[in-house]
Amino acid sequence: VAAALGLSACGDSVPIGDDGQFEGNITFSLALGDGSHHHVGAKAFGDKLTELSDGRITVSYYYDNALGGEREVVEGMLIDSIDMGITSTGPIGGFVDEFFVFDLPYLFENHEHAHAVLDSEIGDELTDLLKETANVQILAWMENGFRHQTNSVRPINTPEDLEGIDHRTQESQVQIDTWSALGANATPMAWPEVYTALQQGVMDSQENPLPTIVDVRFFEVQDYLALTQHVYSPAPMMMSGKLWDSLSEEDQAMFQEAADYALPIQREASYEQEQEAVATLESEGMEVTEPDLDLFREAVEPVYEKWAPQLGEDRIEAARNFDH
Ligand code: MLT
Repeated sequence: VAAALGLSACGDSVPIGDDGQFEGNITFSLALGDGSHHHVGAKAFGDKLTELSDGRITVSYYYDNALGGEREVVEGMLIDSIDMGITSTGPIGGFVDEFFVFDLPYLFENHEHAHAVLDSEIGDELTDLLKETANVQILAWMENGFRHQTNSVRPINTPEDLEGIDHRTQESQVQIDTWSALGANATPMAWPEVYTALQQGVMDSQENPLPTIVDVRFFEVQDYLALTQHVYSPAPMMMSGKLWDSLSEEDQAMFQEAADYALPIQREASYEQEQEAVATLESEGMEVTEPDLDLFREAVEPVYEKWAPQLGEDRIEAARNFDH
């Protein structure tokens, strides 16, 4: 993809200077737009990297799936045709099963809980698994956010209200099982197709974090927002494992320093955009409901019964009860 786009320094063509240092431009894939909470983190990282490297390394951002859908972007980093990207974790489960743990509904109580788990040995273990299995290196556990449901049919207050609604999930069997347990007709669909599917009525419903719903202007094609907060979605900032392995130790430390610098900036932007979103979406005409979440929690219990053995009972319990 990158070669077809004529990108300058991507994958195998990464120039390494005589002194073994990386020199050139990084291609960075984003699923959202300029100014989105993903982009704020990516840009903080890129600016810091350019500063730390005295201009030796620059970063070019490709917005709104310009380099492909999220699964294709992870694949691109795996085969080293895309240098870096931020995606949600949903499609990563297709490469490493254990990442489906993040699709388990109501696993985390709040942002602090999720951050504490991601920044702990549990996050480190998943980082190692992705590198070993798919040769993709996570540099920072950035945030996609708590996800909420939107639809074009009716206000949602209880799971019964989802009856007969055609609902798009990410490409994850855990998500399909969750929305089926809630009573919707769940169908997986890649992210770049979702807006058009909602616009054309192929799908009635989707779910995403509030900053995303604003960024992609879902209020243009959806009338109702239900604050279901049914799952916390991480947004790991990743790079091609081949590129990472080709860096000198000094350069790896510099990339990591830039990522560590960007992480709190991204999480703060995500939080701020989330705080402002409901008012924005109401002003754009969406009707907002606050469903009875106990009913939703109860309805999704079978998802845990089915998936806990496969995803690791110990990991799930450790994450659920993590001190925060
Ligand atoms: C999705 O619903 O596919 C993702 O949440 C999109 C994203 O990563 O922003």
